[in-house]
Amino acid sequence: MNISIIGTGYVGLVTGVGLAAIGHKVTCVDIDSDKVAAINSGKSPIYEKGLEALLKKALKQKLFEATGDMKAAVEKSHVTFIAVPTPNKKDNSIDLSYIKEVSKQIGLALKEKHGYHVVAVKSTVVPKTTLETVLPLLQMHSNKSAGREFDLCMNPEFLREGVAVADFLQPDRIVIGVQNKKAEKVMREIYRPIQSPVISTSIESAEIIKQACNAFLATKISFINAVADVCENNGGNIDEVAAAMGLDKRIGTGFLMPGLGFGGSCLPKDLSIFMGVKGGNGYHYGLLKEVDNINRRQRKNFVKKIEQKLSTLEDKKIAVLGLSFKPDTDDMRHAPSIDVIDALIGRGAAVKAYDPAAIKNARLIFGDNIAYADSMYAAADQCDAMVILTDWKEFSGMNLSKMKQLLKKPVIIDGRNMFEPKKMLQLGFDYYSIGRTPTHPWYNA
Ligand code: UGA
Repeated sequence: MNISIIGTGYVGLVTGVGLAAIGHKVTCVDIDSDKVAAINSGKSPIYEKGLEALLKKALKQKLFEATGDMKAAVEKSHVTFIAVPTPNKKDNSIDLSYIKEVSKQIGLALKEKHGYHVVAVKSTVVPKTTLETVLPLLQMHSNKSAGREFDLCMNPEFLREGVAVADFLQPDRIVIGVQNKKAEKVMREIYRPIQSPVISTSIESAEIIKQACNAFLATKISFINAVADVCENNGGNIDEVAAAMGLDKRIGTGFLMPGLGFGGSCLPKDLSIFMGVKGGNGYHYGLLKEVDNINRRQRKNFVKKIEQKLSTLEDKKIAVLGLSFKPDTDDMRHAPSIDVIDALIGRGAAVKAYDPAAIKNARLIFGDNIAYADSMYAAADQCDAMVILTDWKEFSGMNLSKMKQLLKKPVIIDGRNMFEPKKMLQLGFDYYSIGRTPTHPWYNA
């Protein structure tokens, strides 16, 4: 099928390249001509495992191209996906300006087009946006009526950064929100090569499914972090507690990893937007407010832990391992590292940071206020303590004996529970983690 995708951000590009990988002819549209040129030369503007290789393959097979010409791309396609950003405004409501502008432009392109077309919203939107914002703009500017000459679909994405390509090609499920069988048939045909269940719903349900999933995932993380706090204060071990909880099939093992909480561009944003969506009888989603509070508290408590251990942060040298909001990405949006580092330097500490991928983005945030190291060992050299903020695999393989020699004192405060406390005790580390009893070697000497 011939498909156009508006927006070559993380969702648009992964979707475009993924659809080409399953045999469709895809044109991705973006207003940024530098980005278009880079993509057409086989360079992915985002760091995502496996994406560039698939992009190169699709370009070679002539199944994929990027362009700035939205009208031509829409006219020659059967289906257009809207994958533009929907950021939140200062007051946490959703900013629909991009989606409104592209709906207008798609409408104008459809006016000139002959034949049936499906417009699928992939951007994350608040309930009712598809039918109350996108639809009227499409109808007004195309001068065509939905349900006959074109149809609308809401097709949310569930892509995790770092594994987005795999998530696209082997999703747990595909959700298509449609108003009639004709559009459903087209959407099912697009995803036919993918062996995953396709759930057909109303457009409103599809919108809510996306936000409810992210809000639920955020709730699970905050829940386990609150339990970790209970463990810390009552002698429990969160690893044991989470493992046993997860074995209950009704709870499940996923997203029960305690730590510094959730960051990134999606969970925090969707949580605050969903919080603002009213339920019946003026109900506000107070539960989600607490999920957000726990997430913020998690970062503050971590800084307190570092401060308590070092007595004061004034003039202390701290090695920070991990800057991105999670491993396998260079994305620092809403990363716990931002709050933690700001608090550390705000209280007089000097920070030397290392991250396998996010140093470039970190420089844009912290500038010269912190120092940057090109390895975890260089970061630790002559520091008073080491803190771990992201669970990069590379860190779990560190040579701990070497680290002990490099640090001024063998102190590690681990925000991602990457090591076994028992092993750290044997190695002589003063080791603090989340929801587990700290180890203090000299107490046991
Ligand atoms: C999230 C969802 O997982 C995707 O399904 C969704 O499509 C995407 O948002 C989106 O809306 O576009 P992502 O933001 O890439 O994906 O990251 P996650 O893997 O969900 O992790 C989010 C945060 O939670 C990270 O900071 C991670 O460190 C943290 N986390 C995750 C925990 O602290 N504990 C866990 O057990 C799991």
